[in-house]
Amino acid sequence: MFPEQRARRLRIKPAIRRMVRETGISVDDLIYPLFIKEGESIKESIDAMPGQFRYSPDRLSDVIGEVVSREIPAVLLFGIPRRKDKFGTEAHKKDGVVQQAIRRIKDAAPDLLVITDVCLCEYTSHGHCGILDREGAVENDETLEVLAKVALSHAKAGADIIAPSDMMDGRVGIIREALDESGFEYTPIMSYSAKYASSFYGPFREAAGSAPSFGDRKGYQMDPANVREALREIRLDVDEGADIIMVKPAMPYLDVIRLAADEFDEPLCAYQVSGEYAMIKAASANGWLAEDACIMESVLSIKRAGADMLITYFACRVAELLS
Ligand code: PBG
Repeated sequence: MFPEQRARRLRIKPAIRRMVRETGISVDDLIYPLFIKEGESIKESIDAMPGQFRYSPDRLSDVIGEVVSREIPAVLLFGIPRRKDKFGTEAHKKDGVVQQAIRRIKDAAPDLLVITDVCLCEYTSHGHCGILDREGAVENDETLEVLAKVALSHAKAGADIIAPSDMMDGRVGIIREALDESGFEYTPIMSYSAKYASSFYGPFREAAGSAPSFGDRKGYQMDPANVREALREIRLDVDEGADIIMVKPAMPYLDVIRLAADEFDEPLCAYQVSGEYAMIKAASANGWLAEDACIMESVLSIKRAGADMLITYFACRVAELLS
């Protein structure tokens, strides 16, 4: 660089920097995940996710109040049932933990969007995302029927958007069909299309008690080495009727987000997962990172990569920092 250029750069006024900024993050982009635990009067902290809690449905009002007052448009619900079985039956009960939470939130804050995660791993005794055969492998097609029931039970309870995260083949199509048949033609599907078999889900599995009791999820989640496969998975979901597509995790997969944004017109969501949250929290607690600056840089980088919206445990803090 010539010295005179350097001098000019140093003199760039903050307002000019603001004017030529290419990317921004707004509160409108944020989705806040919540863990809902069956029971009463529960607000439990989650060790590996400082600042995040498991709430029973009757204890949601404070956190929902905060989300609404910060103008965050949506929450994403995960259920932690009391009882689990081989078939994940609790996941589609009319009065299941998520179904109860949906009704409570809709009563308290009708305009807040309620997105529900559709998966069986929190509800099965073995912790896998579907029904197993004798060898312990997931039975794709049998699982699809259960997932459709789960999705429908969420829609009936008042969910605004259904988000299947199980990664079974064909689940978007079968959920779309089940919703349409029951009069929920206008309930959108946000599909976890490119969900990697990632080690960054560790804290979530502690939070939701959903770690598989044997084996791993490599049979149905994607290999971190693959990117063309991600585009193929997204294309399948779009063809089956996904309204919003998703890449997960976010920071280790910014290249996948960028390619998906270039390739598809559908709104694109990215999930900054529990491990991404835990890393920033842990390093900051040790004084090794400046927490707020790193939070804002991380969410901005996910937007810069091409995400339209972002699921993040930092949603409330980001909203606070933006205001
Ligand atoms: C359920 C599900 C998981 C996450 C979201 N939905 C866990 C998993 O697949 O093991 C992880 C989210 C996070 O780490 O924050 N299948």
